[in-house]
Amino acid sequence: MQLPLLLCVFGLAVAAPADGPNSPYDTIVIGLGSAGTTAATELARSGHKVLALEAQARVGGRVHTVPFGDGLVELGAEWIHGNVSSRTYALATKHNIDTKPQALMLDPYCSDGTRPDVALVRELLDLDFTDEHPNPPEALGTFVTKKFMEYITKNKPGLLKDQDFITEFLAFSNLLTNNLEASNDWNDVSTWDLYEKLGGPQTISWHRHGYTTFFDIMLNKYNNGPGLPNLDMQLNTEVTRITTPQHPNETVTVECKDGNTYTAKYVVVTVSLGVLKATHATLFSPPLPLEKQTAIEKVSIGVVGKVILSFEKAWWPKDIALFGFIWKGDDKKKVPAEDYWTTRILGGHPPMGSSNTLTLWTSGEVAKQVEKLPEDIVKTKCVALLQRFMGDALNITVPAPTGFLRSAWYLNPYTRGSYTYDNLDAPQYPLARKWLSYPLLDSAGEPRVLFAGEATNERHFSTVHGASETGRREAERLLLMIRGEAGNYNVKDF
Ligand SMILES: Cc1cc2nc3c(=O)[nH]c(=O)nc-3n(C[C@H](O)[C@H](O)[C@H](O)COP(=O)(O)OP(=O)(O)OC[C@H]3O[C@@H](n4cnc5c(N)ncnc54)[C@H](O)[C@@H]3O)c2cc1C
Ligand SMILES: *[C@@H]1O[C@H](CO)[C@@H](O)[C@H](O)[C@H]1NC(C)=O
Ligand SMILES: *[C@@H]1O[C@H](CO)[C@@H](O)[C@H](O)[C@H]1NC(C)=O
Ligand SMILES: *[C@@H]1O[C@H](CO)[C@@H](O)[C@H](O)[C@H]1NC(C)=O
Repeated sequence: MQLPLLLCVFGLAVAAPADGPNSPYDTIVIGLGSAGTTAATELARSGHKVLALEAQARVGGRVHTVPFGDGLVELGAEWIHGNVSSRTYALATKHNIDTKPQALMLDPYCSDGTRPDVALVRELLDLDFTDEHPNPPEALGTFVTKKFMEYITKNKPGLLKDQDFITEFLAFSNLLTNNLEASNDWNDVSTWDLYEKLGGPQTISWHRHGYTTFFDIMLNKYNNGPGLPNLDMQLNTEVTRITTPQHPNETVTVECKDGNTYTAKYVVVTVSLGVLKATHATLFSPPLPLEKQTAIEKVSIGVVGKVILSFEKAWWPKDIALFGFIWKGDDKKKVPAEDYWTTRILGGHPPMGSSNTLTLWTSGEVAKQVEKLPEDIVKTKCVALLQRFMGDALNITVPAPTGFLRSAWYLNPYTRGSYTYDNLDAPQYPLARKWLSYPLLDSAGEPRVLFAGEATNERHFSTVHGASETGRREAERLLLMIRGEAGNYNVKDF
């Protein structure tokens, strides 16, 4: 390293950037969420010198485990979705961590303090038409409603008389879809999608270990591990500009908000689609290719939010899993306009990392609103909801909460949303996620700026395991190329 020496000669204060023309780093990874941490650690473990720059004060991105209640809770990702060929599940198992499937059988409650026909509600929800893919594609809500009406006309004609139940059951199904997809309305989601579930239980919890353990393992910090010598991490470091060179002999330049500049031969960008939408025009020099800009514009990132309450002790039934709020039309009509958002809380579940907390779920525009409302209003109205739907039915007075937490994935400038979904434009842009993943090349056709992150995963987007797969994909791309094993390298083959 020559730069610090030069600085001494000129008598400058040693505000030396971490590198100079001869960068000590092979690769800079931007963002330490699931994708970035996977890419950075796989490269570092393969002998690369890696610098990881993370804007926030912590590792994890959209995984955020927080001590709360008598244990811990997840403000972001909650479960491992499937255990077959799952990178998250495999790492947990390899380190003898006992993850636990959480059975999410729905317990529906009504707004008038009664219980609906629980078996009927479960049967109707189990129909799950969302796995069907009509040709041509349709808006998901329209399609599901049509299939649902066909089903009850044929199998439950008596139900047709209860129009209020049908309306409110469909409203609940809409919310359930939004809480899975991060959409605002199920008619914003297309029946077209390439998403594939992994096999096995879909909701496996890290419970008292916390999802953050996934990161500790990757970083070799689990069980007081020493970390990775080839990986330098800088938190609180927002990247503001990435300059891709044309000439093969030049490095990529990464400028940070704090004024520091770093260079490396390769850069892996893992910021969320929300961050790309908001900043790509200034973040990249030269501007991104048109197909990538189109994909950034066309793919949607939505919002799923959580309101988490702790209590002195659990007051809900021990075996409760997913509780759902199904309104009566008359009750809904009486809700004042300013409280409209309370009619769009799905219900919630008791998180497994703590025994005295409940997590309520929000989605879409209401999730954005709940991030901004005064805390005491959210808290008071959420307790009132629990009383209205569950307290009355269980003949319990819901006690005052001892603690309150809520997510802010939309307001957070480093995420600007929760995760991506396939919107109504998706069938017209079937390659959009691939376009998001294509690297930027220099004039010799060599990838120099690479892209990972959940949005770039065609089949496993919106998940932690899917994000991790993309980090691995880009690490492999670099390693193959560097070892010269890629042959006639073709970006489109990846
Ligand atoms: C409420 C919620 C619930 C979820 N539930 C589940 C679940 O149960 N199971 C599941 O599998 N998935 C779930 N997900 C989705 C999952 O969390 C994400 O798909 C995954 O964590 C995304 O990882 P990523 O690496 O692609 O992005 P991120 O985690 O967003 O990582 C990107 C990183 O880049 C950083 N960054 C951004 N801009 C800059 C910049 N300019 N300079 C430097 N750093 C920057 C960010 O701070 C962040 O750390 C959930 C998400 C949310 C929000
Ligand atoms: C996945 O979970 C199921 C059910 O708990 C279990 O039977 C199976 O062995 C698990 N598969 C793997 C790969 O661990
Ligand atoms: C890089 O290439 C340019 C243009 O061919 C040349 O002028 C420059 O000297 C080269 N720099 C290095 C460090 O090789
Ligand atoms: C509800 O609880 C109160 C007080 O514990 C009790 O007096 C009452 O009988 C209960 N009502 C029902 C319907 O269980």
